[in-house]
Amino acid sequence: MTALRESGDAVYLLTCSDNHYETGTLGKGEVGEVHVHNDSEHWQKVYGGKPEEELSWFELNPQISFDLVRRHCLDKSARIIDVGAGTSRLVDLLLTDGYANITLLDISKAALDSTRARLGAKAEKVTFITADILTTEEIGKFELWHDRALFHFLTNETDRSHYAMLAARSIVPGGHLVLLTFAPSGPESCSNLPVCRYSATQLAAIFSNGFALVASDEISHRTPWGDVQPFTVAVLQRAVPV
Ligand SMILES: C[S@@+](CC[C@H](N)C(=O)[O-])C[C@H]1O[C@@H](n2cnc3c(N)ncnc32)[C@H](O)[C@@H]1O
Repeated sequence: MTALRESGDAVYLLTCSDNHYETGTLGKGEVGEVHVHNDSEHWQKVYGGKPEEELSWFELNPQISFDLVRRHCLDKSARIIDVGAGTSRLVDLLLTDGYANITLLDISKAALDSTRARLGAKAEKVTFITADILTTEEIGKFELWHDRALFHFLTNETDRSHYAMLAARSIVPGGHLVLLTFAPSGPESCSNLPVCRYSATQLAAIFSNGFALVASDEISHRTPWGDVQPFTVAVLQRAVPV
């Protein structure tokens, strides 16, 4: 995740403990640890840097996500958003299955451009949003919000709270939030970035203001080079006002 590096004007990771990270700028001659930032520049480089099949989170067939969407969203005309979609092939499966109202959001334009190219003419049926979920206030209304492996990159309370409030504003009453994050025994970093790892109970607590946990699971992802990564699945339902 980090490497020792001498001074400069970059921002460095100064401390790291139990999901808490503090950054600062080191003076000349000081030594610290490099902290790669979770920003659009980072993700543009990731997707521009190597074939998607070599990214740790690559799935040729995102069957688990597809089954989760089908289980919790029966209406094929429902509004579905994949947040942090990257180049995921979930959209391919959903389109083939007849889902007609799909939005893909990612901070990396390179990732979304790659998906657009892969889909060809079918891309016209999809809405693409290049945006940072942490600085975006409105993205529309959805019956189902899917996020595989974005939320665990949010390592501070402010970011998690922004995400939770945006989800609560965007998911209609009765709609579902489908989250797949690294599990407590999962990796401590990904893509050279620190992550936070969650149980379903922890995720339910973070989203307790407006959502109730309706299903959970523990699954494993196998990276393209054969490592096993434990993931938590949490499905939360947006409360219906009484
Ligand atoms: C580990 S990848 C997972 C991609 C995809 N969900 C999948 O399963 O293949 C995380 C994704 O989240 C996106 N991402 C990271 N931070 C983001 C942010 N603040 N706003 C929007 N997208 C973000 C990255 O560009 C990347 O595509």
